[in-house]
Amino acid sequence: MIKFHALSYSIISSFISCILRIFYKGSFQLCFISQVELIDPAVKGTLNVLRSCAKVPSIRRVVVTSSMAAVAFTGQTLTADVVVDETWFSDPAVCEKLKLWYMLSKTLAEEAAWKFAKENKIDLVAINPGLVIGPLLQPTLNTSVEPVLKLINGTQTFPNITYRWVDVRDVANAHIQAFEVPSANGRYCLVSRVAHCSEVVKILHELYPTSNLPDKCADDKPFQPTYQVSQEKARSLGINFIPVEVSLNDTVESLKEKKFFSL
Ligand SMILES: NC(=O)c1ccc[n+]([C@@H]2O[C@H](COP(=O)([O-])OP(=O)(O)OC[C@H]3O[C@@H](n4cnc5c(N)ncnc54)[C@H](OP(=O)(O)O)[C@@H]3O)[C@@H](O)[C@H]2O)c1
Repeated sequence: MIKFHALSYSIISSFISCILRIFYKGSFQLCFISQVELIDPAVKGTLNVLRSCAKVPSIRRVVVTSSMAAVAFTGQTLTADVVVDETWFSDPAVCEKLKLWYMLSKTLAEEAAWKFAKENKIDLVAINPGLVIGPLLQPTLNTSVEPVLKLINGTQTFPNITYRWVDVRDVANAHIQAFEVPSANGRYCLVSRVAHCSEVVKILHELYPTSNLPDKCADDKPFQPTYQVSQEKARSLGINFIPVEVSLNDTVESLKEKKFFSL
């Protein structure tokens, strides 16, 4: 594994010289809101890596880590009977109007990646995970596990948010499969289940009945709706999604083990 700054084209080019395949996972900072801090790294970083890859004939495939953020924000109303799949592409105008800057950055980055790949005949595969939870490898808390820590760690209310939950082990596996399976192509949505935080509180209560979980929502608005995300294409890569109950259990156990909180 090598690490490089994706905004420096010259540095990337010097690294990517004799490798066969490349992962580009890019940046993920929900708190960044300006174009320079969020959109430029996503779009320019992605294009810098692809430009370097285009110069190396031995690279057979590029797998880019996109997100469900680049899939689900089309402006279409999401309800329980709606099935989101890989044909959906978030609309930059919708993201901009709703000030969804992370969604906008991932949408523009993936859009730019597909355009560049087509023009330069790169075999590109995109992985589009939902909110990634599961056991932590690193000692620090990552952004996407934070909502689980907040719920289990004595907060008074749960947020009125519906997340697209997926386990990090399925995400890692899908990246590997996207490299290894010759027929892998296009995009792969990775979501084990779409669930509102109230439902996650219920699952956590069943797993940890003595824990101090929130029992009311942070606002009085109707709950953000749930919907479905097709698993068909991910299954064709060999992904059998880990149930969200297992992911939540393993996330909490990992957070405990790493002393982020105690029950
Ligand atoms: N976590 C999720 O729930 C989730 C869901 C869907 C998609 N994704 C996507 O998955 C990818 C990784 O997310 P993550 O959650 O693992 O985020 P993360 O923990 O914040 O990791 C982001 C990584 O990007 C690196 N990075 C940031 N700016 C960079 C730059 N200019 N050049 C090179 N590397 C740079 C960071 O390096 P340093 O460690 O040196 O800062 C870090 O290794 C992102 O593309 C994100 O959009 C994440």
